[in-house]
Amino acid sequence: MRVIIQDNYDKMSRWAAEHIAAAIRKHKGERPFVLGLPTGSSPIGVYRELVRMNRAGELSFANVVTFNMDEYMGLPHEHDQSYWYFMHDNFFDHLVDMKPEHIHILNGMTDDPEGECARYEEKIASYGGIDLFMGGIGVDGHLAFNEPYTSLCSRTGVRELTTDTRIVNSRFFGNDPEKVPGKALSVGIGTVTDAKEVLVLISGHNKARALAATVEGGVSQKWTCSALQLHPNAIIACDEAACGELTVDTYKYFLDIERNERL
Ligand code: GLP
Repeated sequence: MRVIIQDNYDKMSRWAAEHIAAAIRKHKGERPFVLGLPTGSSPIGVYRELVRMNRAGELSFANVVTFNMDEYMGLPHEHDQSYWYFMHDNFFDHLVDMKPEHIHILNGMTDDPEGECARYEEKIASYGGIDLFMGGIGVDGHLAFNEPYTSLCSRTGVRELTTDTRIVNSRFFGNDPEKVPGKALSVGIGTVTDAKEVLVLISGHNKARALAATVEGGVSQKWTCSALQLHPNAIIACDEAACGELTVDTYKYFLDIERNERL
């Protein structure tokens, strides 16, 4: 696992955007580049930077296919807290050459959740798998909506949200946890770790415990993000604020071996 420590959120975002842009540009051949995407506050800076590159003519999305990680159940597209709305509002609507038919987001309004999730996995497989899955994590270490104790081999399916997560996410629902949907559709930990490369953004003091568990703790279903330790190509991009719970030697180790990556 690589851990890229940047001074702050903006530099972390720029580093991650440049990394993704480089992977898209390097991609050759008929098959499109397949990109997995998260929602939340963590990726907003990356989306902003990717949009800037795209609009400046520095990066094309014409040959990029996307799959989002998760979606709340019961929120229609036009609900401003649906992840469909978030992705269009923060990213897709601003790209000049993203093809709408290349965008995949789980349908949280489906009356056949199992079928929807099985088809999502099939669709990913039909493109030959995901090249790069970008992710964020919750304060309890959930990756997509894979809450603590979700199997580390899980596939796309229905997830029950914990009270903790509903409280944390209530900031987007008038601070009322009851208004946060209790269920979501989510890719599984196995779906994420099947990607050729996984890039997870971790920023801010409130993620410090989760970062330490991801990097230094044992692989455990209590911290589903720790499954990344078994991935051959996992990168954590983080900021200084998130490093507060790392031991000094871990912190120094990654600063040392990744010193050329510091922006
Ligand atoms: C939600 C999403 C996750 C996301 C997490 C962190 O629960 N389902 O995919 O990573 O929030 O959000 P934030 O980046 O806003 O801290």
